[in-house]
Amino acid sequence: MDAHVGEVVVPVDELHARIAELGAQITVDYADRPPLLVGVLKGAFLFMGDLARAIGLPVEVDFMAVSSYGSATRTSGVVRILKDLDADLTDRDVLIVEDIIDSGLTLAYLTRTLAARGARSVETCALLVKEGLQRTELDLRYVGFRIPDLFVIGYGLDVDERYRNLPGIHRYEGSA
Ligand code: IMP
Ligand code: MG
Repeated sequence: MDAHVGEVVVPVDELHARIAELGAQITVDYADRPPLLVGVLKGAFLFMGDLARAIGLPVEVDFMAVSSYGSATRTSGVVRILKDLDADLTDRDVLIVEDIIDSGLTLAYLTRTLAARGARSVETCALLVKEGLQRTELDLRYVGFRIPDLFVIGYGLDVDERYRNLPGIHRYEGSA
């Protein structure tokens, strides 16, 4: 595609096999209380679509957009809500659907914020977690893959809004 698209970190077939497993597990765990899936835009847009279809329950979906990075590749620790949810969270079982956890600051902020709105439970399903970098204690209920500390692109993940439509997860080659 271009010189910035590096080696495959998670191939497409492994992505889809793992998402099927996550969906099956969520289907069992939430059998008596179908969750509200809260996708974190924009990075989780493909994961949300595939995960939702892998869950055999009458889930609802909603989306939030937050900004923690701007266009740089390192977190600032400042999280801003760019688009808020439509749903009322009172007594809902919320499952946050995240693309990738790096410092964990974005997720920590979201978990606090959604719990404060009266949700009965707030859990997380993260497709990717970077090893060893979480600065905040995180309770990650569902994790797709643990990956090394690389900047990755594809399957929703971007650099300056590019590469989101790559089918698999690749290493990003270059400074961003
Ligand atoms: P955190 O707050 O440091 O955990 O940052 C999480 C957010 O940063 C993710 O939801 C992504 O939007 C973005 N991010 C972190 N690492 C990467 C990466 O390797 N590629 C693309 N986006 C990333
Ligand atoms: Mg991003």
